[in-house]
Amino acid sequence: MKKSAILTGLFAGALAMAGCGGAHGDDPGRAYMPDMYYSRAYEAYGYNNQPEDHDLKSRGAYFNGMPVIGTVARGESFPFPIAAGDSGYARAASFVSPLPSMKLTAAQTKEAERIYLINCAICHGTALDGNGPLWKNGDGPFPAAPRNLKDDYTKKLSDGQIYHVITYGKGQMGSYASQVKPEQRWWIINYIRGKQGGGAPATDSTTAAAGAPAGGAMAGTDSTTKTK
Ligand code: HEC
Repeated sequence: MKKSAILTGLFAGALAMAGCGGAHGDDPGRAYMPDMYYSRAYEAYGYNNQPEDHDLKSRGAYFNGMPVIGTVARGESFPFPIAAGDSGYARAASFVSPLPSMKLTAAQTKEAERIYLINCAICHGTALDGNGPLWKNGDGPFPAAPRNLKDDYTKKLSDGQIYHVITYGKGQMGSYASQVKPEQRWWIINYIRGKQGGGAPATDSTTAAAGAPAGGAMAGTDSTTKTK
């Protein structure tokens, strides 16, 4: 008898609490322990409004909440620590493809072709001759002539430069960083090289690659590094 009275009392109390705050419409009512419902989350690398952290600088410690330069994101196997712009494009000349070898398997080549056809052929053409449907010898809607990817000029571009162009764009060509993943960019470059016939051109490729270790490592890192 006593027990059931206590239980009924607790139940009534719970009901009363659930109803408190007069919840109606979007009003969720009163929250019990709000810190548990609404966490004080901070964006990674975002502005940190912890006064103790701000104080670090005045105490001689360097802290800006950002990862140190050259940090490679977890799962990012193809870092490209070169910034956009002309100077980045020039530096990209010595950046060596991190693909273990420039030979893809037949299946990979097919996939590289598929990605090229989706992203690049509309301008550069299925034959890589720079005459895709958006250009059509100047009759297409695109205002600038896409590069013939089989001409000597492109043969002499280093893999790193082409990677830079796909990543950041160049002239009238926009960036394809959001459409094409880093690894896929190297695959496309590999595909283009294959279509150019006989891989890289005899001249210049060695000078471009000289001094740059394989595996995509670079000597020095831009302080303005932004890896896309
Ligand atoms: C919307 C049209 C368009 C698409 C799509 C496009 N490009 Fe281009 N591309 C251009 C134009 C235009 C140029 C010439 C840019 C200039 O020099 O002003 C160019 C230039 C280039 C160059 C020469 C860069 C240099 O250093 O001079 C390469 C290499 C290239 N594109 C590769 C690609 C690849 C790979 C893709 C697909 C991921 C692609 N493009 C997609 C229009 C396009």
